[in-house]
Amino acid sequence: MTINKKIVLKKSPEGIPTEGDFELIEEEISTPQKNQFLSRTIHLSLDPYIRGVITGRHIYSEKVNVGDTIVGRTVSEIIESNHPDYKKGEVVLTSNGWQEYGLSDGDGVRKLNDHEGKLSTALGIMGMPGLTAYAGLMVYGEPKKGDVLVVSAASGPVGCMVGQIAQIHGVNVIGIAGSEEKCSAVKEVFGFKDCINYKTEDIDQRIKELCPKGVDIYFDNVGGETLDIMTRNLAYEARIVLCGFMTQYNLSTPPPGPNLGPIVGARATIRGVVVYDHYDKQDEFISKASQWLRDGSIQYLEDEVIGIKNTPAQFCKLMRGENFGKTIVTMQ
Ligand SMILES: NC(=O)c1ccc[n+]([C@@H]2O[C@H](COP(=O)([O-])OP(=O)(O)OC[C@H]3O[C@@H](n4cnc5c(N)ncnc54)[C@H](OP(=O)(O)O)[C@@H]3O)[C@@H](O)[C@H]2O)c1
Repeated sequence: MTINKKIVLKKSPEGIPTEGDFELIEEEISTPQKNQFLSRTIHLSLDPYIRGVITGRHIYSEKVNVGDTIVGRTVSEIIESNHPDYKKGEVVLTSNGWQEYGLSDGDGVRKLNDHEGKLSTALGIMGMPGLTAYAGLMVYGEPKKGDVLVVSAASGPVGCMVGQIAQIHGVNVIGIAGSEEKCSAVKEVFGFKDCINYKTEDIDQRIKELCPKGVDIYFDNVGGETLDIMTRNLAYEARIVLCGFMTQYNLSTPPPGPNLGPIVGARATIRGVVVYDHYDKQDEFISKASQWLRDGSIQYLEDEVIGIKNTPAQFCKLMRGENFGKTIVTMQ
């Protein structure tokens, strides 16, 4: 009998999630029925949207209730198949969630036979976060050579890809991140021109020094005070891409928004990006990103732990903003 270890929701988190909100349970693994396959999770992706799914605030996913397995994308190997399109031994991008084994009917599954680089990158820079960065920047940011772009949460998979893709297009990139270690990596690993540590530096003052003509593109991953400050530092006809609100996911009610007066003054545009609208660009993105990865134009960082039992602690770390790179769990 093979045992499946999985993490279920024990109670709905209040504020920043804690390990006590989750529970590890064991059960016998299921057998795939007709048109299903069973896969073994190799890598599990932990992403900020999961916080919204747990509390029923993520409008694109069904709420996870107490007792349910937590959702998540995985890189998994098929170990048994009763599905005509999937063979034992194939490695796929699927959604097993926080568990060691999962069943699938093939819906939303992508084969990773031709994947460029480490398999785990299919969950990060080459996956959903990478596509978010690519689509958000290219469709709404409209980067032009010589533009100045600022991106927050700059060391994460979305932020680092926004900055690196912008640099490939001749844009001058400044990051904002929450520690000296993150800022050093943003400059040294990702090659950004500079990086502001918002925990120790005055963002407003530093942006005025670094971008005296204002910011052409602000790619926002955090909302809150940083967004407010950035709206006051825009160049004429600037573009703001609203991507994420890390400062708000753990709050029960959102705080008041930024003062939008400066948007009018700068004749700026604000656009929201939702990655699910841009899966038509996935093949184009993967083909370009594979080339960039091969020729060294893009780099990445991962924050990895080993073992399903460490998943809740690793997710809580992400939601406290203490992750350093793409947050993943690799199974034992
Ligand atoms: N719109 C879409 O379709 C879409 C798709 C994917 C992701 N997103 C969003 O993109 C953003 C980045 O995602 P990611 O996967 O690349 O995450 P990530 O950067 O790996 O992790 C989130 C980062 O947010 C920062 N942060 C700032 N304020 C925070 C706070 N109050 N609490 C916790 N963290 C805080 C932290 O970095 P610092 O220490 O550097 O501040 C933290 O490491 C998230 O907001 C996510 O929801 C949106």
